[in-house]
Amino acid sequence: MKNVHPLLVRITHWVNALAILVMVLSGWKIYNASPLFDFMFPDALTLGGWLAGALQWHFAAMWVLVLNGLIYLAYGLWSGHLWRRMFPISPAAIARDIFDALRGRLAHDDLSVYNAAQKAAYLAVIALAIGLVLSGLAIWKPVQLYALASLMGDYEGARLLHFFCMTGLVFIVLVHVAMVVLVPKTFLTMITGKLPKENPYG
Ligand code: HEM
Repeated sequence: MKNVHPLLVRITHWVNALAILVMVLSGWKIYNASPLFDFMFPDALTLGGWLAGALQWHFAAMWVLVLNGLIYLAYGLWSGHLWRRMFPISPAAIARDIFDALRGRLAHDDLSVYNAAQKAAYLAVIALAIGLVLSGLAIWKPVQLYALASLMGDYEGARLLHFFCMTGLVFIVLVHVAMVVLVPKTFLTMITGKLPKENPYG
């Protein structure tokens, strides 16, 4: 049977999904303690109980995300997985695949090959996660990491960047999970690594 997703990609994917969930929910609690905009996140969608608790969750998950992300990126670059799965990609192919997906005509028969819309979404979440970690570091240590913070418009700019990276990431992940619900065989494959057996004689 064809191995669609390497073991390391599967492990880092699920650890990453959990870390992102904890980071987003605890991040919303931290945001509520000093909102940037005229709204707050519902308490039921936050984690940590209170500001100090949420900060503890946020930092703990941050180390998991950073270490796990470095393992995924190092493996992806070293093994060629990232180049093979995410490239080639072009704006025209992304536009075509998004258009086809909206009309319900996007085929995803070979699960080892991502369509251009998927490639764009995965590259975007990787970039947004890197943006989140860097802007988070700038907010955490704005004095020690002055050079990094000043690239983002200092503390306030880094806070805004952190918020917008979170918004983009949450939006893409919601679409990502909706696509998995529409093509459920991809879910099992991301756990077992193998294609579900459709034809016992095949
Ligand atoms: C409960 C939440 C999630 C579910 C159910 C889920 C499910 C999946 C599935 C089934 C695939 C394989 C898609 C396919 O074969 O067509 C996949 C790939 C991927 N997912 Fe998720 N995912 C979740 C959360 C996330 C999160 C939070 C992120 C990042 C922030 C993420 C990033 C990715 C990436 C980058 C890939 C491509 C991995 C590679 O081949 O290197 N996912 N996901």
